[in-house]
Amino acid sequence: MAKQPIIPFPDTASLDSENSAIIIIDQTLLPGELRLIALREQREIWDAIRQLKVRGAPAIGVTAAMGLYLAARRLPEDDEAGFFAALADARDYLATSRPTAVNLFWALDRMEATAKHHRGLPVAEIKEHLLGEALAIRDEDIAICEAIGQNGAALIKGGDGILTHCNAGRLAAVRYGTALAPLYKAHESGLGFKVYADETRPLLQGARLTAYELAASGIDVTLLCDNMAASLLASGRVQKVFVGCDRVASNGDACNKIGTLGLAILARHYGIPLYVCAPTPTMDLSLLSGEAIPIEERPGEEVTSMWYSTPMAPEGIGVYNPAFDVTPHELITAFVTQHGVIRPPFAQRLARLAKESG
Ligand code: MRU
Repeated sequence: MAKQPIIPFPDTASLDSENSAIIIIDQTLLPGELRLIALREQREIWDAIRQLKVRGAPAIGVTAAMGLYLAARRLPEDDEAGFFAALADARDYLATSRPTAVNLFWALDRMEATAKHHRGLPVAEIKEHLLGEALAIRDEDIAICEAIGQNGAALIKGGDGILTHCNAGRLAAVRYGTALAPLYKAHESGLGFKVYADETRPLLQGARLTAYELAASGIDVTLLCDNMAASLLASGRVQKVFVGCDRVASNGDACNKIGTLGLAILARHYGIPLYVCAPTPTMDLSLLSGEAIPIEERPGEEVTSMWYSTPMAPEGIGVYNPAFDVTPHELITAFVTQHGVIRPPFAQRLARLAKESG
């Protein structure tokens, strides 16, 4: 018998009824409070992305697209050249909010290209096209994640133990998520399985977000500290690892939350398949390899003091805090995309996928 359907959380990012604000779930307050907040000013949108109030590659892309529409909406309509110059400035500003997830740049570029394509029309009409494009990016994200869910669910067997890292769930996209979408689909079809969620130091997306959304949906989830993953895999309790990604290079190297590389090495050691769930907007086939992916470095306070009532490291200590790492393609079993499961050799197959999906 099919299990309970997923609890209907609000979408992670949406426009309000007047299309004048972005409504997001403030993820910094989870799991204690599910609060929706409205973002209107460009500075608020930039801060929300930088501070991870909205985070996860697909959700960042959708928020940025809506943000650029909001910037355009306010611009005067009697000066076409001024409109395009101000739009380019707004695009460049939002593009500085975070460096790694390529969805941010993909969405902003797509919005700017839409405006340029309609240059010559009255500015009021160009604004309408930008609204349509932002909503299309949102709708596509929902459809892509649902298809990833269906394709990935076929890899899950009843009784599996599945390890995941960070949060690549519905909170990281608009609705279904990437790496967690197959779990939702498998759960809906009545399959029984057990999920293990790495807490994901230092920002605890696994503990605060993945454990929260899976538990709220009735999925059996167990939390562990990142440094317990080796012991868990050695115990034989895990049959598959599912993770998301923030940017995939043309050779299949995949950048994801810091700690994914360690898991990939462990999974290979223990002969456990590693599936990277990847929407095509997260692929950056302009890059030859993962070495070219810009890795965000975040403030040391996230490691030393942010979650503690008193600092847990000596004052002034140097901190290494990269937010992402790159898993070499050799360690990836397959990519789960909206078009199907892609196995090695990745370079040719990702290129073909990009060509076929336009
Ligand atoms: O720093 P974050 O929380 O934005 O990092 C998110 C991740 O690394 C996710 O795994 C990735 O974006 C895939 S989300 C579907």
